[in-house]
Amino acid sequence: MNYTTGVTLKKTAVTITNHLSGIGSDAVKEEILEGLRSHPKYISSKFFYDKTGSELFKKITTLEEYYPTRTEKIILFSLGDGLNIDFRDLNIIELGSGDHSKIRLLLSHIPGPVLPTVHYYPVDISQSAILNATEKLLEEFPVLHIEGIVADFVHQLDLVPSVRKRLFCFFGSTIGNFGKNLTKRFLQHLGKLMKPGDHFLLGLDMVKDAEVLEKAYQDAQGVTAAFNKNILNVVNHLAGTDFDPALFEHVAFYDRENRKIEMHLRALRDMTVSAHPENNPISIARGEMIHTENSHKFNTRQIDEMATWAGLQTERIFTDRNKWFSLVHFRK
Ligand code: SAH
Ligand code: AVI
Repeated sequence: MNYTTGVTLKKTAVTITNHLSGIGSDAVKEEILEGLRSHPKYISSKFFYDKTGSELFKKITTLEEYYPTRTEKIILFSLGDGLNIDFRDLNIIELGSGDHSKIRLLLSHIPGPVLPTVHYYPVDISQSAILNATEKLLEEFPVLHIEGIVADFVHQLDLVPSVRKRLFCFFGSTIGNFGKNLTKRFLQHLGKLMKPGDHFLLGLDMVKDAEVLEKAYQDAQGVTAAFNKNILNVVNHLAGTDFDPALFEHVAFYDRENRKIEMHLRALRDMTVSAHPENNPISIARGEMIHTENSHKFNTRQIDEMATWAGLQTERIFTDRNKWFSLVHFRK
């Protein structure tokens, strides 16, 4: 994650622009340290995704226990002509595009002659994810016009193109990593940004058996644990701290009442963490937890609530045979 310099990387046919310098490294450091000095301590889940974090997340998506990715992919694969969208001259803007494996499935439904008229804009905080994925995507869809946007989709949503008809995609239930207030604000913002005729496809992980949910976040191979601990390496890089990730253990549990998985890092012993160049160390007691992620699970009533917040119509809800995941097509 590079919050210091704005970069435009021109690859053969893909332009990738990094806008994170618009946020600035001091603001990011301050945000991280504020969380670490709070009671209880927290780190925003957006800091999971440096190069290693993006690779670990990709590995999570292949795990037997992590059902959301394969379930959403089955839904996307089976859309057929059920998706009532005219793709001609469309700008597709994907928020949190990750490894781009989901947009591939959507693009494969677009008729060959229409594809050269489509422009694809992946938006992600992880420059390495956009770099790796656009290359592969272009191999598969050489006629596709791709412009990568490295940005924070919460603070920099206005950077997305405003011309032509648009389809916004927000897959993976990444919106579930927001709290309720941020979800409302984000959807209000997106709803205002959208113009009549624009579309929005939102992937949502639905409430299900607690055992299934907890296994998805406590996999047997420990990949999720490695993903969780890696956030401390990212924080060390961005905030100048000296965390030792080996001194923490991964904790994940389902909070039934609030319908969310919570992930934390629990300190295995008392320690002091310094934040260079500040002279104000952070004390962490053995057993103390740093909250790193919420992953909310949804029900159909919440889909209606989201439509209201965004001022959008629900065109159709696609789901799998277990109703574990929903892909909601909203329209303005
Ligand atoms: N959509 C993909 C990836 C989901 S992982 C899928 O469904 O598999 C979440 C993605 O969102 C990661 O690629 C991460 O880098 C990105 N992300 C997380 N917070 C972000 C933020 N605030 N702004 C932009 N991208 C963000
Ligand atoms: C990206 N996001 C929707 C994932 C999730 O399931 O909440 C991140 C993740 N955290 C642990 N495993 C996967």
